[in-house]
Amino acid sequence: SETGKGAYPHYMLKEVDEQPAVMRRLLNEYVTADGQIKINADLLTALEAADRLYIVAAGTSYHAGLIGKTLFEKLAKKPVEVHVASEFGYHMPLLSAKPFFIFLTQSGETADSRQVLVQTNQMGYPSLTITNSQGSTLSREADHTLLLHAGPEIAVASTKAYTAQIAVELFLAVALGRHQEQAVALEFDVNHELTLVATGMEAVLSDKDQIEALVKHYLATTRNAFYIGRGTDYALSLEAALKLKEISYIQAEGFAAGELKHGTIALIEDGTPVLAFLMDQSTIDHTRGNLQEVTARGAQTFTIVSDAFAQPTDQIVLPQVNPLLTALVGVVPAQLIAYYASLQRGLDVDQPRNLAKSVTVE
Ligand code: G6P
Repeated sequence: SETGKGAYPHYMLKEVDEQPAVMRRLLNEYVTADGQIKINADLLTALEAADRLYIVAAGTSYHAGLIGKTLFEKLAKKPVEVHVASEFGYHMPLLSAKPFFIFLTQSGETADSRQVLVQTNQMGYPSLTITNSQGSTLSREADHTLLLHAGPEIAVASTKAYTAQIAVELFLAVALGRHQEQAVALEFDVNHELTLVATGMEAVLSDKDQIEALVKHYLATTRNAFYIGRGTDYALSLEAALKLKEISYIQAEGFAAGELKHGTIALIEDGTPVLAFLMDQSTIDHTRGNLQEVTARGAQTFTIVSDAFAQPTDQIVLPQVNPLLTALVGVVPAQLIAYYASLQRGLDVDQPRNLAKSVTVE
């Protein structure tokens, strides 16, 4: 059922497994068989009138916003800033002349995000909430709402909401790009690309044993770990590291691979795990160079790579998808790595210490 755990030992594993079905459900909800995107024209007109989009969110939703920035900028040629809600509200940057606010929030109840919406409403700026929760506070108080249709997410560590948020951002970016007659958006075959994502996710999910074994080998006893990448691989590294922190309590950080040498590399010791995403074609060679630098200093490296660029020594090889959508498939091994690291340490996967599913205080 939608709400029970069924045969699953944990909600998190169930929700990770549901992601291909969520991708297909979202295609049904938002895209016609001939590829038209079902998004209200008023919303597209308001977005078109804006000179800049401000995405405001917290936690995993913030990380989904970082991927969304690339989607809006590439497909709709609209500049985007992504902000952490708890910072934005109290240190508001100088806004553009015609801002449009997008609130990403699984629950629709996060107080940090809501206090920003209250302010932007007072300032009279247009807004959209992208949420999994119909009728939630942020949905009611924004001008527009788009739903994630991910079904209830019970595990505290957010998984299917992240991938659903990226998919909805994709629909919106393509629809806006088409509204503005951008060739790249007119040509983007959403049905085809997101179906490839769903089958790519399934391929990863069908080989959980490999990931469980790799976790045993690389992360069984470590106190810390680093994820690295460039471009959207960097944005994904931040989410991958957050998942690991939240449920395994391994001190994990995501870094821009090229920044390592400017400081972080001092932390590398014998056996420090460094996990790299290699899906951004233009920078794969540079990131491989960064892996050599840390290997020379004793790191245990571990690669997650698109099959088109894979070498025999790579560990996790992912099916190729559209370059704008690699995070949707690449996050799945990271979710599973966090899951098995938590499980192997005997921790409470679904209810990690100190965390709440929805934080309604600032
Ligand atoms: C809490 C949860 C996170 C979540 C964040 C934002 O901290 O533990 O998993 O990403 O809130 O939640 P939202 O519902 O606004 O997406």
